[in-house]
Amino acid sequence: MTDHFKLDLTQRPRRLRRTASLRAMVEETVLRPADFVAPLFVIEGKAAPEPIGSMPGVRRLCIGDAVKECRALAKLGVRAVALFPKLDGSLKDAEGSAALSEDALILRAVRAVKRAVPELTVMTDIALDPYTTHGHDGVLSEDGGEVANDRTVDLLREMAVLHARAGVDLVAPSDMMDGRVGAIRRALDAAGFEQTGIMAYSVKFASAYYGPFREAVGSARAAGTAPLDKRTYQMNPANRREALRELELDDAEGADILMVKPAGLYLDIIREVRGVTRKPIAAYQVSGEYAQIHAAAERGWLELAPARNESLLAIKRAGADLILTYFAKDMALALR
Ligand code: PBG
Repeated sequence: MTDHFKLDLTQRPRRLRRTASLRAMVEETVLRPADFVAPLFVIEGKAAPEPIGSMPGVRRLCIGDAVKECRALAKLGVRAVALFPKLDGSLKDAEGSAALSEDALILRAVRAVKRAVPELTVMTDIALDPYTTHGHDGVLSEDGGEVANDRTVDLLREMAVLHARAGVDLVAPSDMMDGRVGAIRRALDAAGFEQTGIMAYSVKFASAYYGPFREAVGSARAAGTAPLDKRTYQMNPANRREALRELELDDAEGADILMVKPAGLYLDIIREVRGVTRKPIAAYQVSGEYAQIHAAAERGWLELAPARNESLLAIKRAGADLILTYFAKDMALALR
């Protein structure tokens, strides 16, 4: 008979899981709306919101609608947005020149949001991919064979100053060129923007999970048929030591916040970098991570809300102070 079987145990972890209040008392990681940064895609004109096929619930918004969305996010306690422009193909060229236009869509969007919701932190990507016909984050070398590092950095620091002048709180270089954080810091300071911060995409892997984002901004395979290959600048997913090296460089070059991207597949990296810098760590739950959860939920294979919550809790538990996620608004709503 096993009826009266009793283990001789002093340690019974289940005691603290017995009731909801005990479980709440010993909860180690808690998500709050201020943990999240909401990425928003902005389009030209007064167009109606455009759904993005691979990102259920995410839509490209005209500036007016983006402002409304920012007001709603701020009301829900989300403190920051990351704005991304989707340009008309006719504005793109090999050099990404539209990135340096004083009248660029992104600059008008930043000004409108900062005017309407000044308390909301606004950040923008510093990289050329929404602007180039080939979809790369920088300009190509003479022979077209690779992305030219220093020439790209030269353009990026000019772009960063334009964004600072439009009023962003943080510029976010997402290009993975060598030396860009230091160059951008110096350019911002020289232009009088020593209070504009840098959130560096420090550890950005050449991931297969950016596909839906590239659909959203129209950079997927802009120049032709071959899918984009960014492996000469984005990192090899196999590399952990190199992640630390990239992080330490951006830290030393003056980044204010250091980012790991993607997030969910790189929790070990988030944990590790958390220990090597005293600065805030951000993690980007990228479009493919979002799409994956939605796709499974649509098929009835996962429950959306609990899977979403767990994915974000894991990123915070790993050590991220901030999470860029397309679930930002849903989470803020769920946490009310
Ligand atoms: C562009 C950029 C990318 C993302 C953010 N900024 C894509 C890329 O590097 O190709 C990805 C975000 C996402 O997938 O959600 N530099």
